[in-house]
Amino acid sequence: MKKIICGNYEECCSAAADIFTEQLRQKPESVLGLATGSTPIGLYEQLVSRYDEGKIDFSRAKAFNLDEYYPIKQNHAQSYKTFMEEHLFDKVNFAQKHIPNGEASDVVAECARFDAELEAAGGIDLQLLGIGTNGHIGFNEPAVSYPLKSYMTQLSEDSLKSNSRFFTKGETQPTTALTMGIGQIFAAKQILMLISGANKTEITKKLFEGKLHTDVPACFLLLHPNVTVVLDKAAAGV
Ligand code: PGA
Repeated sequence: MKKIICGNYEECCSAAADIFTEQLRQKPESVLGLATGSTPIGLYEQLVSRYDEGKIDFSRAKAFNLDEYYPIKQNHAQSYKTFMEEHLFDKVNFAQKHIPNGEASDVVAECARFDAELEAAGGIDLQLLGIGTNGHIGFNEPAVSYPLKSYMTQLSEDSLKSNSRFFTKGETQPTTALTMGIGQIFAAKQILMLISGANKTEITKKLFEGKLHTDVPACFLLLHPNVTVVLDKAAAGV
C-alpha cells in the first residue's frame, strides 16, 4: 500500500486528480470505479476544472459507481445517481455511466445486470474508494463473510448514523443498499483510496496497523498489489 500524506484536503484532491489524469492519459478508454460521500467532492471539482481547461477527457471512459441506496427513486435528492450527476456526470463527457438502479423491482436481477455490464466493460482499471468510520468500502459493511459480486446489503448502524446528515426531516433514509462486492473492488487493476478528516484517524490507524482485521473490509486492500492511499494530516493523525 502506497501512502501519500498531504497537508490538507485540497492537496489530497489535487494528488488524486493527478492519478485520474495520468490514468486517462495512458488509457483513454479506462473503466473508472467511482464513489460518493463527502470525501470525493473536492476531487470531482478538480476533475471538472481540468476538463473545462481541456486537460482531461472522459469521452472514451466508462464510469461504474460502487453503490446506491435501495429502495430510492433515481431522481431523489439523496440518491447516488443524483449525487453523481450534480458533482460530475452532468459536467464532463463520460462515454458510459453505470449506477445500480435504486428503483429496480427485482434486486437480484438488477445486481446481475450491473455485474454483466461491468464484466462486458472488462473490469475496473482505476477504482476510487472512501472509507467508512467502520472500515466499510462501498457499502460492504463489517461482516463475517463478504459477497464477491454485487448484492443488497443491510446498512450498519454506523453508516446510517454517518449518512443521516444528508437526509432532511421527513425524508425516509433507506436502510439497505445495492453495492459492488469485495471481489469486484479487489479485481480493479489500481485502487485509489482517499481519506480526510479527524473522524477517520482511528480507522486509518487500524488500516495501517499491519494486521488483516477481517471485520474491517478496507483491510482486504492490504493484500492488493496496487493501492495508493491519499490522506490528509488530520486522517493520518500527524
Ligand atoms: P464520506 O464517506 O466520504 O462521506 O466520509 C466515505 C465512505 O463511507 O466511504
